[in-house]
This record gives sequence, structure tokens and C-alpha cells, in this order.
Amino acid sequence: MKSLLPLSMQAISIAIALSSFLETSASAQESTGSSTACDKDCQDLVDTGIAFERSSRAHEGVDDFYTIPNEFDPSMEPGTLLRVEEHTDITNYTVPGGLTMSRIMYTSESLNGTVVPVSAFVLWPYAPFEYEHKAGHSNSSCPSSNTNNSTKFPLVAWAHGTSGVFPPCAPSNYRSLQYNFMTAYSLALDGFVVIATDYAGLGVTTLPDGAQSHAWLAGPAGANDVTYAIDAVRKAFPANLDADGPFVAMGHSQGGGVAWSFAERQAVHPQKGYRGTISISPATRVIDEIERAMDVLGAAEDPATVPIWAPTALGLQVKVVAAVTAVYPEYNDVGMSEAAYDRWHNVLEPAGGCLVTDTLSFLGVTDQVRANWTADPLVREWQDVASSGRKAFRGPMLVIVGGEDALPVDMLEEDVEATCAVEGNEGQGLEMEVYGGMQHFPVIQASRGKWMRWVKERISTPAGHSSGGGGVCGKKTVVEGFNTEYTSHTIAPNWLVSWASPMEAYKYAL
Ligand SMILES: *[C@@H]1O[C@H](CO)[C@@H](O)[C@H](O)[C@H]1NC(C)=O
Ligand SMILES: *[C@@H]1O[C@H](CO)[C@@H](O)[C@H](O)[C@H]1NC(C)=O
Ligand SMILES: *[C@@H]1O[C@H](CO)[C@@H](O)[C@H](O)[C@H]1NC(C)=O
Ligand SMILES: *[C@@H]1O[C@H](CO)[C@@H](O)[C@H](O)[C@H]1NC(C)=O
Ligand SMILES: *[C@@H]1O[C@H](CO)[C@@H](O)[C@H](O)[C@H]1NC(C)=O
Ligand SMILES: *[C@@H]1O[C@H](CO)[C@@H](O)[C@H](O)[C@H]1NC(C)=O
Repeated sequence: MKSLLPLSMQAISIAIALSSFLETSASAQESTGSSTACDKDCQDLVDTGIAFERSSRAHEGVDDFYTIPNEFDPSMEPGTLLRVEEHTDITNYTVPGGLTMSRIMYTSESLNGTVVPVSAFVLWPYAPFEYEHKAGHSNSSCPSSNTNNSTKFPLVAWAHGTSGVFPPCAPSNYRSLQYNFMTAYSLALDGFVVIATDYAGLGVTTLPDGAQSHAWLAGPAGANDVTYAIDAVRKAFPANLDADGPFVAMGHSQGGGVAWSFAERQAVHPQKGYRGTISISPATRVIDEIERAMDVLGAAEDPATVPIWAPTALGLQVKVVAAVTAVYPEYNDVGMSEAAYDRWHNVLEPAGGCLVTDTLSFLGVTDQVRANWTADPLVREWQDVASSGRKAFRGPMLVIVGGEDALPVDMLEEDVEATCAVEGNEGQGLEMEVYGGMQHFPVIQASRGKWMRWVKERISTPAGHSSGGGGVCGKKTVVEGFNTEYTSHTIAPNWLVSWASPMEAYKYAL
């Protein structure tokens, strides 16, 4: 076990994916008769993961804030405000000086229309980004300038990437709000209120009928959670957020798919103040991607030379099987191997393990899914309802991806082209930027100058006007960075925001 811990998450996930792939392709899915139980090494890894996850949370376990209030009723309208914690005690968070935080609970709607309670955090700037309409657009009767009122804030709705799928995995309860300076802190430091849903099933405790299971990678479900978080935060703080104030939606990875689905939702159910969407490294069609990864790895003479996205996609399979079950309970995880089913239901779920523990607890489970599981009609149906892209959307939208991302760039290009070919989309701005040499998390930092400028431009542009890229659908740009060979290359972020207890406050002198 000791020798495993220093490995990067990337190496670990590749090791898992490759071993599972080689096993799957070598022989039929027959149990070897070896024990599927979690042995001592496995238990040590799980304990290590759980201890780290606990130490990363601002409150012990999931605090009272996340308990469903008695007045919650599934017949409520989505977007109903259920709870407001106006001033979150940030003692145990790493929130930068000047910023403040709130938490809210509100109702959203799951894929099948069930109304569910969802939590979110709100990160408040010290002072708002001041937006002014550019020369030529100035219109004194247009109410959205905030230059003479420092209590009115523009908004960014943030859709987070995978944190896990069980209730303890809520970013609002992570000391660093999961994406820390990569997105949420940076946006708030530049004057934007960040409203960040946890998504249904994360944070708020599960409903008795199970209707609260987290619909991982179901873009339209996450898009509902983002939409109603915006409605709810405007209701909670009317003195600071206008009901029609300008906002941009933005997300990464799982949240990149959610953001894209959000832009699609805006085409059907527009929200006041919408100025555009940024989708970074989005998960769009994960079943197709997994099948493609199997082909790529099957054809590769040397598995070490395959692009990073392929083993990454295969490493997601158990979670995808569980995600299908979250939407169709009758599917009952049949795509999992016996060993994986045991590990998921008897080890990870009871522990409430999030992404770190998930990764650690599956080390050594070589045989994770059943052969041909992606061909199941219910799995295909899930992809149809869960996917993002190839539909009408409301722009403008900026799609950002790393040249070495955890998803294949050419598949994303196909999604962009197919999206722009949808009737009515030709007038919607959609720009794709590929950041050469950048992987899944580093691409967020590499593209920061671009997206921050884009957010500011969009917020400063009156409703109905386009800017930067105009109404061109499908423009593609490749950015070649400086010294990319020498920069950090990892799927996961290459840094953490750390935290010390009051007894160890001297650490802050570092
Ligand atoms: C911060 O964490 C400590 C334990 O680590 C706990 O005793 C304290 O109540 C927490 N404070 C808040 C405001 O949650
Ligand atoms: C200014 O805004 C008002 C109300 O939104 C609109 O009726 C008018 O056409 C606008 N004028 C210009 C010059 O854009
Ligand atoms: C600016 O503030 C004044 C009151 O101080 C108000 O009358 C005016 O409408 C405001 N202008 C804008 C653009 O909000
Ligand atoms: C909606 O889906 C959830 C699973 O996400 C399920 O538990 C619930 O029974 C479904 N409700 C209806 C009305 O189909
Ligand atoms: C700014 O807006 C708030 C909320 O609408 C209002 O109470 C306040 O009077 C405004 N301040 C100025 C200077 O206009
Ligand atoms: C895979 O599953 C599909 C649908 O269940 C089935 O039609 C097909 O024959 C299967 N292929 C193999 C190789 O088992």
C-alpha cells in the first residue's frame, strides 16, 4: 500500500483502466472464484481516502444545514427558496480575505420531473465588477449598469466537475469549495457573485424514496439545478442581485456538460439576464467515448502510447453504470462486474466515499464491468437523455478544451459541428478554443485570461447584443502556449489550497 500512495491520481486511474481493459478483452466475464471482499490493503486505502476527505471538509460530516426542512413538499414549484444561511462562518474554509459566503437550499427538478431539494454556495466579492455598456450601446433606460450602486453584483453560475456521487461530496462543504482559485475564488475576487449548485443528491440528504440519487453526467438534470439556483439566489438576496441582472453560466468537466445543457435549456426556457455560457472540457457523450476508448486501446500495439483520454474514459465505467441506475433504478447496476458491484455497494457507498476514496477503493479491482455493457438499450437510452450538444442552444457559447484533455478533441469538434448544423443554431455564436499541450485541469488555468475577459465582455454587453465572435457558429482557434513542454501535465490539479488548525496557525507564515 505504501508504494501506491505517492502515485499521482492520473497514474492510478490509468493503471485501473488498463488493467480492467486488458482483463475484459482477454477473457469472458467469468468470476474467478477469488474473494470480492475488501481485504486489509483495500480497507487501509479506503480509510486513507475517507480521512483525507473528512479533513477537507469545513464541517464534520454533512452539517445540519443540509437536512431537508419540514416545509419541503414535492408539490412545490422548482426554484422555491427553502433555506438561507446569509453569513456562513468561514473559519473552517480557505475563502480569501475580503470575500464572504452564504449557503442556500432551494427546489430543483430531476430528469423525470420530480421536485427535489438542492443546496448551493454563494461567494460574495468585496466589491462588484462594474459593468458599463460600451459606446454605441449606451441606453439610459436600460437598467443593467451598476456603475453607481456598489451593492448590485453581476453573477456567474458555476457548474462543478465530478466530486463524487454521494451526499458528503458537496462542494459547498469543502474547505476550498472544490475549485478554489481555479475558478470560484478568482471570479469572486474579480467582482462576480458566484452561485454554485452542489447538484441534486450531493449535500442534501437522500429522500426516503431514493429520488435524490445524484444523476452524474446527466447534463440536463444539472442544468435544472443551475437554473433554479439562479432563481433562488435572486429571491434570497434581492438588494444585491436584480431579477434581470446580467449573468454568465460556466462549468468544467461534468459541469462543462451541465453548462452546455444549460445553454440548450436557455433556448427553450430563457432566463432574464442571460449573457452566455462557457463550457470547459465538457463531458458530452460518455458512452460513445467509452466505446471509442475500447477501440483505440484494442488497436494499440503499445498501450503506453495511447492518448490519455482513452484509459481515463475506461476508468469511469463503474461510475457511469451507477449513473445509469440513478436515472433508471430498474437497471440496477447490471453493467458492473460482481467484484465492482460489491466494492461499490458494500464499501464505497456505506463509507460515503467521494472521488479520492472512489479512486483508491477500486485499486486492484481488475475486472470492473461486464463485456458489452454499453450495448444495452437502456444504457443507450440513458446517453440520449443525459448527453449535451447537438441540440438548439442559446449563445454565445465558448467551448474550451486541452489538446491533451481527458476527452478526445476530435469528438468534441464533431459535437460542435453537429450542434452548429442544427437548424436555428447558425446565428448563435459558438467558439471552440483548443489549448495545445494542456490536460484536464491545467487547461482551466491556461485559458483563464481568455475566459475571464469573455465573462467581463459578456456582462458588459446589453441583452440581445453579441460581442467577440458575434453570431458565428463553429469558429475554431488553436492556442499554442509558451514552454508547454515544461509546464505541469496532470489530469488532476497539480496543487491544493491547504488549511491549518488554530494550533498550527504558524503554518500560514510559510
Ligand atoms: C471548525 O472545525 C472545528 C474542528 O476542526 C470545530 O470544532 C468547529 O466547530 C468548526 N467551526 C465551525 C464554524 O464550523
Ligand atoms: C433603449 O432601451 C429601451 C427599453 O429597453 C428600448 O425601447 C429602446 O429601443 C432602446 N434604445 C436604443 C437606442 O437602443
Ligand atoms: C444612479 O443612481 C441614482 C440615484 O443615486 C438613480 O437615480 C439612477 O437611476 C441610477 N442610475 C443607474 C443607471 O442605475
Ligand atoms: C424519478 O426518478 C427517480 C430516480 O432518479 C426515481 O426514484 C423516482 O421514482 C422517479 N419518479 C417518477 C415519478 O418516475
Ligand atoms: C443601491 O441599490 C439598493 C438596492 O436596490 C438600494 O437600496 C440603494 O438605495 C441603492 N443605492 C444607490 C446609491 O442608489
Ligand atoms: C451486445 O449486446 C447487444 C444488445 O444487448 C447484442 O445485440 C449484441 O449481440 C451483443 N454483442 C456481443 C458481442 O455480445
